[in-house]
Amino acid sequence: MHVSYHTVADVDYNSLIPRQLKADEISAQGPDMSLNNLIEYNKADCLGLLEKADTAELWDVFLEGQAKLFFDSEVQWFANADWWQSSKRILEIGCGNGAYIAKIADQFQGKKFLGIEKLPLSVAQAQERNSRDNVTFREGDAEVFEPQLIDSADIILFRLVLQHLNDPVIALKEAARYLSTNGHVLIIDAYDKARRTSHPITAIDEALALAAESQLKNRSGNRRITLDLLQTFEDGKSPLSGLYEVVFSNLDAKGNIFCGGIQSKGKRAREIYFNYGLLFLTLVHRTYQVPVNLDKAYEELKSYREDKEAWSSMGMHLLVLKKKSNRI
Ligand SMILES: C[S@@+](CC[C@H](N)C(=O)[O-])C[C@H]1O[C@@H](n2cnc3c(N)ncnc32)[C@H](O)[C@@H]1O
Repeated sequence: MHVSYHTVADVDYNSLIPRQLKADEISAQGPDMSLNNLIEYNKADCLGLLEKADTAELWDVFLEGQAKLFFDSEVQWFANADWWQSSKRILEIGCGNGAYIAKIADQFQGKKFLGIEKLPLSVAQAQERNSRDNVTFREGDAEVFEPQLIDSADIILFRLVLQHLNDPVIALKEAARYLSTNGHVLIIDAYDKARRTSHPITAIDEALALAAESQLKNRSGNRRITLDLLQTFEDGKSPLSGLYEVVFSNLDAKGNIFCGGIQSKGKRAREIYFNYGLLFLTLVHRTYQVPVNLDKAYEELKSYREDKEAWSSMGMHLLVLKKKSNRI
């Protein structure tokens, strides 16, 4: 299958993260800023900061950074689609601190967005930092049906959420009831094997493999849920086939890439990736109790960061389902 990559060396990554702090400014900025600027520290201090950091704070900073890093390459998949352009109401289920949906809302100001999220602390962070005229947030559970959401959205976004759910099929069945006629579900989830970088970051690959094993063993999620869903549609055995049809996937059900992602390049993108990689590994370690080698990760990410030619392309699976018109 032909794989096509586009480059976006000209993306203005300077607008994406706060300016770099001088060493003597850092302590005055509080822990948030230090986790956003791990690049400013030597290895021992950097790993010390990560070890001491509060988990909720790590998640908060991580989700903000991740939205910055991934948004430009993901938005290309849907921005020009008819179903996206004609939509008016977008519901994100499992919106975290709202960092990602706020970026979409800023780019598509004519649409209205609602983010729902299970964790009250994340809802509070979203309300405080990422509310907009066209974006609101509230608590809600993907697996618990909410009658007031019936026919409330033209598009429902599940981004990096289905992989964490006990029952993603239930969540998608409920989503069909929340969608308008001919509404769409936009699923964006990680497929680790589709990740590409110019430099091997083996510490991340190893940790991801262990996390996937741990999830399956403890029945606490599935890092390849979207491929499994796609496979059931292809086999004609999907419990969702009465509700939805698949209208787009950038991977086939075996994980082969039909359409590649954008390569992130440039100094700022490399710096963001350095920060993101270290936060990510710390969270994988705490969430799945798997060993991670932060020392090695630091060195690998540092080599990546220092190589002007380095690039990365995120391993994301975009799967778009269209609600069938004869139902609900
Ligand atoms: C990896 S974060 C992704 C956040 C956001 N979608 C983004 O892309 O930045 C996954 C989020 O899903 C939330 N979540 C997990 N299970 C949920 C459920 N049953 N209902 C609603 N949210 C849930 C978590 O609390 C977390 O905030």
